Amino acid sequence: MKVVSLFSGIGGLDKGFEDAGFNVIWANDFDKYAVQTYSANYSNPIILGDINQIHLPDIPDSDVIIGGFPCQAFSMMGDQLGFEDARGTLFFRIAEIIKDKINKDEKPKAIILENVRALRTHDRGRTFKTIERILRDDLGYKVFVDVLNSADYGVPQTRNRTYIVCFSNSEAEFEYPEKKPLEVTLQDRLEQNVPAKYFLSDKILPTILSNGTGGYKAKSEIDLPVARPLCATMAKMHRACQDNYVTQNGKVRRLTPRECARLQGFEDSFIIPVSDSQAYKQFGNAVTVNVSRAVAEAVRKTLEDLGEWE
Ligand SMILES: C[S@@+](CC[C@H](N)C(=O)[O-])C[C@H]1O[C@@H](n2cnc3c(N)ncnc32)[C@H](O)[C@@H]1O
Repeated sequence: MKVVSLFSGIGGLDKGFEDAGFNVIWANDFDKYAVQTYSANYSNPIILGDINQIHLPDIPDSDVIIGGFPCQAFSMMGDQLGFEDARGTLFFRIAEIIKDKINKDEKPKAIILENVRALRTHDRGRTFKTIERILRDDLGYKVFVDVLNSADYGVPQTRNRTYIVCFSNSEAEFEYPEKKPLEVTLQDRLEQNVPAKYFLSDKILPTILSNGTGGYKAKSEIDLPVARPLCATMAKMHRACQDNYVTQNGKVRRLTPRECARLQGFEDSFIIPVSDSQAYKQFGNAVTVNVSRAVAEAVRKTLEDLGEWE
């Protein structure tokens, strides 16, 4: 089953699909550091470039298209309801790519898209309605949607994300993967002998540990057994009410990039060839591999039931 991966980042989504028996043949991202990490870890090609600038014929035909598209520009979609109205958004680019394949009689059998939880409620649900309408009415897919939490799939991180799963076959039945009780904690996934640079100085500690102020009041808690969502701006070190801090040997520290990798389901063999600040961004942006794998296995089952798995 050939897969084209869009907005591939460091391939969290791709890895899950590969593990489930799919074959990623082409990937793309416009961030050179993400492409560096991706290339160090996967054998399939990844093209560095803005997806809006890549010529449609240069994107190979495939059975499946996957993409954790950035949530930028949803506001542009506002009240609108049709294909033309999503123009200028990255979702529209995905739709254009699919439309081009349909015009060539190479309609992908399945499309899997990942996004933030708020996608479904943004602009009182209108943004998602537009996306759903385009996938269903303009592109002819049967559309399923659910929010999955990474902590329900074996990693100690609360991370709720929207997974949109679409099939070209109108007979398709799809069950989202079953949740499993979490058997590990963040503490189980910590590294030992961590370099001093990850520990907080006495000077910064009070600021980090103070509760949120002003419009943003939140409780400062460290040593959580299930981590808060990793985010793309982790390199900046947020307060403890928004970020993850742990106590080790009586001192408080931030998570290391390797620990962030583990919390996103990447094995320790995953090569991190970039600076810490790039690594934090990449793991904060990634799709949790465990969730991707579980979704990919469920997609595979549907394709097998339809007799479409090759
Ligand atoms: C949420 S991340 C996807 C993470 C990825 N699925 C993973 O599991 O690692 C979104 C990615 O889209 C990329 N991106 C954003 N705009 C893009 C564009 N116009 N063309 C290509 N890539 C883009 C970003 O660099 C980022 O890596």
